[in-house]
Amino acid sequence: METIRVHPCSSASQLQATAEAGANIALTKYWGNADPDLRIPANDSVSITLDRVRTVTTVAFRADLPEDEVTVDGRPLVGPARERVSRHLDLLRGLAGVSWRARVVSENNFPAGAGIAASASGFAALTLAGAAALGLDLSPRDLSRLARRGSGSAARSVFGGFVLLHTGARDEDAFAEPLHGPDWWDIWDLIVIVSRAEKAVPSSEGHHLAPTSALHQARVARVAELNRQLLDALARRDFAALGQAAEEDALLMHAVMMTSRPSLIYWLPETVAVMHRVQARRRAGIPAYFTIDAGPNVHVLTLPPYRESLQADLRALPGVQDVIPCRPGPGGRIIPNPAE
Ligand code: PMV
Repeated sequence: METIRVHPCSSASQLQATAEAGANIALTKYWGNADPDLRIPANDSVSITLDRVRTVTTVAFRADLPEDEVTVDGRPLVGPARERVSRHLDLLRGLAGVSWRARVVSENNFPAGAGIAASASGFAALTLAGAAALGLDLSPRDLSRLARRGSGSAARSVFGGFVLLHTGARDEDAFAEPLHGPDWWDIWDLIVIVSRAEKAVPSSEGHHLAPTSALHQARVARVAELNRQLLDALARRDFAALGQAAEEDALLMHAVMMTSRPSLIYWLPETVAVMHRVQARRRAGIPAYFTIDAGPNVHVLTLPPYRESLQADLRALPGVQDVIPCRPGPGGRIIPNPAE
């Protein structure tokens, strides 16, 4: 174990650091765990870290705090949400041999409830800031592995660009790695917002239901093949191959969700309308593919020449509240002086 290196913002009674991380969109999804306690995913997944949707988190461990205090977008977390953050901080405290409680202040630059999961960027930024505050000397791989314990998809947000999350037999083997940097390929992800309501079943609960679907094992087997196609498509910058693999796995994952017990149907009528529109545009020759996370909003992947017209087209659909255009973005980073 390294000795604690005190961060510049820290003093004798406070250890503090600030970090930033981006949300990511999975092209092949993490859905279901091989080990639920350790959040080891059932299958490998591939994602793009996004530039426009980011979280900035400050963690200050203090000698005088009786318990962890967590504020997200100005609202204090209570109950299980705060306990989840506390358990994550316990992992970091255990590594550093520090028992001080922390004040955590986290801000998303996308509106709360915009239907974009903040857990990936949130737990990535929390891990980076917490580890830096405690002076832990951890490799990016170790940081990714730790972020995974908070939220599986957060393991991928530690890195920028195009990222692969490995499943593994043990905690040590399940980490993300960067495949290509953000400049490798100018792909747009148009996030089509059809609802801002909080989802009824959060993904951390949904993962537990995956094995109750008769389709789960079939999907896990198929994703291994889709991942091979995706890695090849990324290396060759073959957009149709990438889009087909992404769209297929989104549909497979939602088939697992819908057929689990209890059944999870995250789609709304507007979700299906966007899916139809994307496929219709594709039949008309526009390179556009959809993917959908554990919610009703749709991510539409396309290439630069088609971005503006497709965005306007999707924005005009009934029930579409907003479209947030994103590109591949950088990985998580420590912000040396948050005031800068
Ligand atoms: O990291 P979690 O527990 O929020 O799970 C992520 C689940 C999906 O967003 C549906 C898929 C993924 O790989 O991001």
